[in-house]
Amino acid sequence: MGLSSSLAPVASALLLFCCFTAWNAAAAAASGGGGGGLRLNYYSESCPRAEQIVKEQVRSLYEEHGNTAVSWLRALFHDCTVKSCDASLLLETDAATGLVSEQASPRSFGMRNFKYVGAIKSALERECPGTVSCADLLALAARDGAAMLGGPTAIPMRTGRRDATESQYGEVERYVPNHNDTVSAVLSRFAAMGLDAEAVVALLGAHSVGRVHCSNLVARLYPAVDGGIEPAYGAYLRGRCPTADAREDTRDVAYARNDRATPMVLDNMYHKNLLKGRGLLLVDQRLASDPRTAPFVRRMAADNGYFRETFAAALVRMSENGPLTGGQGEVRRDCRFVNTK
Ligand code: HEM
Ligand SMILES: *[C@@H]1O[C@H](CO)[C@@H](O)[C@H](O)[C@H]1NC(C)=O
Repeated sequence: MGLSSSLAPVASALLLFCCFTAWNAAAAAASGGGGGGLRLNYYSESCPRAEQIVKEQVRSLYEEHGNTAVSWLRALFHDCTVKSCDASLLLETDAATGLVSEQASPRSFGMRNFKYVGAIKSALERECPGTVSCADLLALAARDGAAMLGGPTAIPMRTGRRDATESQYGEVERYVPNHNDTVSAVLSRFAAMGLDAEAVVALLGAHSVGRVHCSNLVARLYPAVDGGIEPAYGAYLRGRCPTADAREDTRDVAYARNDRATPMVLDNMYHKNLLKGRGLLLVDQRLASDPRTAPFVRRMAADNGYFRETFAAALVRMSENGPLTGGQGEVRRDCRFVNTK
């Protein structure tokens, strides 16, 4: 009795302290950072069919142009890795405001299908004007694209991202790794997003779909084929890229498939290929020999279920890199331009 009454002031002080910290944590989460402020079904009241609409659009675009699904995956990576998943990537160059699009960066070379973002956004705007952000559109489209390509399904993607009002054109090359970067450089870039070596090996599995232009390959093919490339694969690649002077020009320029066997399936064929010396980019091939990443390459090559699970978790993590939330940024009405006031 005497004991409990003497502890009462301590207990109430503790209780106050707890509530204060909890309140602080909630406030910090609401203001963004580290994915805080995002939640599942953010639009459940403001636009209940938002996720369904994105899925329908992604599916019908996929049925017409299969590679749109591929593009949503690369687009999410490029949007999120440059500071924040804020759809800054989607802003177009605008002479009137002096804005230069991130799409014009050399690192964005080969990106395609931006013209179809408008179809998804228009469908959302018809149902719920000014409600669903372009940043969430990209995250949801990447998730649905992965499923269309036979990758993991039903990835629990949180929403509530807001859109940037400026381009990070000048920062793109600092944030997006290059095709010939070292594993150390790549690991430290992804670590900055909270992604470890296992997550990196899973995410680069996205290179199980799509294509690479010769300008990103010729350094591995000429004057001599890189010794890390399987000879028969080297011969195939030289056939695809017959000269050393590949121009950076996407109009009818030569390219090679990331994965010749199943180029439109998001699976562990990428990891199987790496083990055979069929990695397309230098950075891909390096994952198979570096001791920090090689064990994950082997395990994913052997187990598609493990690849899918790790990929899904890593995609969610990547999609929550430093989002704008709450009152930050805006919800763009047209993903290509900042709203006019
Ligand atoms: C070290 C990190 C990465 C590097 C250096 C890198 C580099 C590249 C390069 C050079 C291309 C070919 C561009 C071209 O020539 O057209 C490419 C394509 C692609 N990348 Fe990555 N990438 C990385 C990580 C990722 C991640 C994390 C994802 C998604 C989760 C991704 C998704 C894709 C996709 C889907 C394509 C094919 C695009 C198409 O066919 O249109 N990449 N990447
Ligand atoms: C990487 O490739 C680019 C061309 O895409 C080239 O300019 C650069 O020198 C290469 N870097 C290294 C370290 O080889």
